Amino acid sequence: MKNFKTIVLSNQEISSGYYRMRILAPGFGKVGKPGQFIMFRVQTSLPPLLRRPFGIFRTGFLPADCEGQPPKEYLEILYKVVGRGTTIMSGLHEGDRVEVLGPLGRGFDLGAAGNDKILVGGGIGLVPLYMLAQELVKSSRVRLLIGGKRRDDIIMVTEFERLGVNTHIATEDGSLGEEGFVTRVLERKLQKYPQAEVFACGPMPMLEAVQRLCAAENVPLQVSLEALMACGVGACLGCVVKGAGHSEQNPQYLCTCKEGPVFRAERLDW
Ligand code: FES
Repeated sequence: MKNFKTIVLSNQEISSGYYRMRILAPGFGKVGKPGQFIMFRVQTSLPPLLRRPFGIFRTGFLPADCEGQPPKEYLEILYKVVGRGTTIMSGLHEGDRVEVLGPLGRGFDLGAAGNDKILVGGGIGLVPLYMLAQELVKSSRVRLLIGGKRRDDIIMVTEFERLGVNTHIATEDGSLGEEGFVTRVLERKLQKYPQAEVFACGPMPMLEAVQRLCAAENVPLQVSLEALMACGVGACLGCVVKGAGHSEQNPQYLCTCKEGPVFRAERLDW
């Protein structure tokens, strides 16, 4: 984990209200694992001074330029504009200064090689699933079930397909793919692939439905939780969630930023 000041390489709107930001990040690809995140801050004198968690979508290299400079290593985050902070982020340009702390947290366990892997992403929740898919396709068949309210919420599908991932889309208004919740698709897939392992990230109601389906079929599940985070390193306890067996007499709490954000489903209190 390191804290470094760096610059934005690009910041593009990829769907209505959704952005992809590339950040210069030398050496980051060697240490970042699927499911980890960064704390990101805009270097600005304007309030608010942002420090927010973002899942790492992927890392990579820009090609060397014609002046013989070495290839530039970058990391990418995806975000949805939902308030003042992300509105400020959406106005950043190439060369703007930002600060990154990371990689942070615990990522996904890759599971047993050869088993079918089903990834379930709700909206921006598919962010931590891309690097996971990059690893899983080396030894397993991978299916991505992606859901959203409408077609604008369905992003980066072709990036997953380029990896060889089989994709299935569901939107609540039926404007893209199957009409309805993505968990309906999951229900069918679990019937068809009972040996599968499931990895999910998205809004809590979606994760709860995924957990119920997987528990009913006895299918292993890992979830990546989205939580409000102030410090990202286990110091403020602002991100705790209830662990399995939690009760008033025997409180069990887990720190999302340090013990997660990825948890095996059986560790959590659903
Ligand atoms: Fe501070 Fe997790 S964000 S402890």
